[in-house]
Amino acid sequence: MELALKHLDTHLQAFVEELKAFVAFPSVSTDPAYEEPLTLCRLFLEEHLRQRGLTARELETGGIPALFAEAPGPPGAPTVLIYGHYDVQPARSEDGWSSDPFTLTETDGRWVARGVSDNKGPAMALIKAVECCLEGEGLPVGVKFLLEGEEEIGSKHLEGCILKHGELLQADSVLISDSLWVAPATPSLCYGLRGIVYAYITVPGPAVDLHSGIHGGVVANPHVRLAHLLATIAAPDGSVAVDGFYDQVRPLSEAEREQFAQVPLDLAAYRERLGVEELLVEEKVAVLARRWVEPTFEVHGITGGYTGPGAKTIVPAFAEAKVSMRLVPDQEPEALFAALVDHVACHCPEAAVTLESAAAPFVADTAGPHYQAARRAMRVGFGAEPLLIREGGSIPAALWLKEHLGVPVVLMPICAVDDNPHSPNEKFEPSHFEGGVRAFIAYLHELARMGPS
Ligand code: BES
Ligand code: MN
Repeated sequence: MELALKHLDTHLQAFVEELKAFVAFPSVSTDPAYEEPLTLCRLFLEEHLRQRGLTARELETGGIPALFAEAPGPPGAPTVLIYGHYDVQPARSEDGWSSDPFTLTETDGRWVARGVSDNKGPAMALIKAVECCLEGEGLPVGVKFLLEGEEEIGSKHLEGCILKHGELLQADSVLISDSLWVAPATPSLCYGLRGIVYAYITVPGPAVDLHSGIHGGVVANPHVRLAHLLATIAAPDGSVAVDGFYDQVRPLSEAEREQFAQVPLDLAAYRERLGVEELLVEEKVAVLARRWVEPTFEVHGITGGYTGPGAKTIVPAFAEAKVSMRLVPDQEPEALFAALVDHVACHCPEAAVTLESAAAPFVADTAGPHYQAARRAMRVGFGAEPLLIREGGSIPAALWLKEHLGVPVVLMPICAVDDNPHSPNEKFEPSHFEGGVRAFIAYLHELARMGPS
């Protein structure tokens, strides 16, 4: 492992330049207008991996293609499948960025750019760990990469791709680094993710936008109807009134309550960082429970009608809300979507509910040897004992890889608690990049010691 670590030391500056080149592609998956940069980004990665001696090829998904690459390990060694994504959330300068979102900019010793934390920095750290091994003593295990281009839009085509390429993707375990530490200077290992149902609720109005002075009062306003409908679904305290919404939610176990109590979460600092005066619950364990093991209903945005500059007086032709529900064990996406459809049918029969994407919640097996191996590797990378945490975000691939390949999945985050993924001025810590490469090198060696499953 020494030669691999040495390669890291001597090539760190080159790695940073490569990360810079990676984030320069605006690989935004939400908007079809970005098809070209997505393709160029994928080609960049493909070439990057080939130059380092991996075989790489595109995997058709039916949507934005994924990238597959592999390099063999020593005979008899296990193989690890590394999953990550090269697509990013949208970013426009006017959303509040202090520098160009697609130029990696060093600000106060941190790297600022869209996707630098979610997920290009961690993905690059994983690739660099493999490179370091290849340039050092050689790979201790076989490595496969599955790099997706549709994670930020719900991985709509990935499950089919995993099922179709089961043999190609087969490995002894899966490694994912696509989440955050729970607090500053608190290396974390994550064992749980919430699921998600993402949907559109559309309330129809008149055939076209109408003059609200002429027709207002006799034609129902779809935005008002939508507002009433949404108010029947969720309350300002965060509670959800959809029939049966909480029926399958597992109560928090005593063991987890104690574990959550150990998390060094400073609520005042947390509120300050988010720019809110109060949280919906104000006690630490309750906050973590809300974020990690309780379901939510969120409204992400409402379209329709007029939102441009100045006043325009219309009764809009439609109103549409983009909404999602985060799901926790043992909630099932199909059942919860059906419950939402029933609720809408009952309270606003003219509204339509369209499913965008869905993923079930994920819980890893932490009792096996993989989390122990990851624990030791995090110590090598960051010099501190990692904390075992859950997360509230969703990575649909985690469950599909666990179930369809039938192998353990390990979530080894290297992002900082204040990286602000999906927000303006998303950033990544240089020290987390370097520590991450080191931790991943150590983990690959840990896997080799463990042998095939
Ligand atoms: N990296 C996140 C997932 C994440 C973030 C997990 C923080 C744990 C903590 C990922 O890129 C993401 O944003 N996923 C989406 C999935 C959705 C579009 C299906 C999410 O969670 O909103
Ligand atoms: Mn994301």
